[in-house]
Amino acid sequence: MSMNNELRTMNYNTRVFGKKVYSYTEVESTNEIAYRLAEQGAEEGTVVIAIEQTKGKGRAGHYWFSPSGGLWLSLVLRPLMVSSSISQLSLLGALGITTSIKRTFPLLSSGIRWPNDAIVNEKKVGGVLCRAKNEQGKVVFVIMGIGVNVNIEEFAPPLRFTATSLQRETGCHVPGEAFQHCLLEELERLYSSFLDDSSALLEEIRIFSSLLGKQIKVKIGQEKLAGLVQDIDEKGRLVLRLESGIQRRIGPEEGCISG
Ligand code: BTN
Repeated sequence: MSMNNELRTMNYNTRVFGKKVYSYTEVESTNEIAYRLAEQGAEEGTVVIAIEQTKGKGRAGHYWFSPSGGLWLSLVLRPLMVSSSISQLSLLGALGITTSIKRTFPLLSSGIRWPNDAIVNEKKVGGVLCRAKNEQGKVVFVIMGIGVNVNIEEFAPPLRFTATSLQRETGCHVPGEAFQHCLLEELERLYSSFLDDSSALLEEIRIFSSLLGKQIKVKIGQEKLAGLVQDIDEKGRLVLRLESGIQRRIGPEEGCISG
């Protein structure tokens, strides 16, 4: 179910991202709509955006709280790459949110929390959910779903302890359209740098990564690991030195930080 669809042509400072924007008042999930549009041939850079989502999807099957005031959008990507390389796209999305926050609020302490979170003052302000369609080991398209808590005033428990919004952290209402423009510009810049040379993107991910050098706990299915984060490697994997001294590389789809 979706309400009030409007197709707009926007004048962003981008080459392809956001040149076509499908704008909704209320949808279940922008990712679902973008996926259907991509199957019908929507071109790279097409954006689906909604004021509110009633069944927002988060990582690992979680529900994503998406009231009005947030930025909920999905982007159609058609990268020419093998399926195994797409795991870095979640990190790219999280980096795009982080660099947009830096551009808008240079003094806020923001960063990426592997594998797909953007954080401000240690709390989650945004997340990324990518879904790909692959055929014979090649990517047909990827839907990059991005959620940013822009102007959300209140979070009920338990979210209250882990999530925040730009409005809560800055104490002022954030101009949503301007932030959206900035995000699309940053995502396009990072995406073309990634397609040119993924090592340049990795350098930027390392700069903004909040976990490097930290002692963390990771959950991989039923397995729980603790160790020191040494690096994020060229495949977007977390390089963890376990207490036993053994090194483990954990893919973005495999694990999540548990404390
Ligand atoms: C996460 O768990 O951190 C990922 C959250 C991704 C949320 C965004 S909001 C826009 C798009 N539509 C969805 O249903 N999910 C993503």
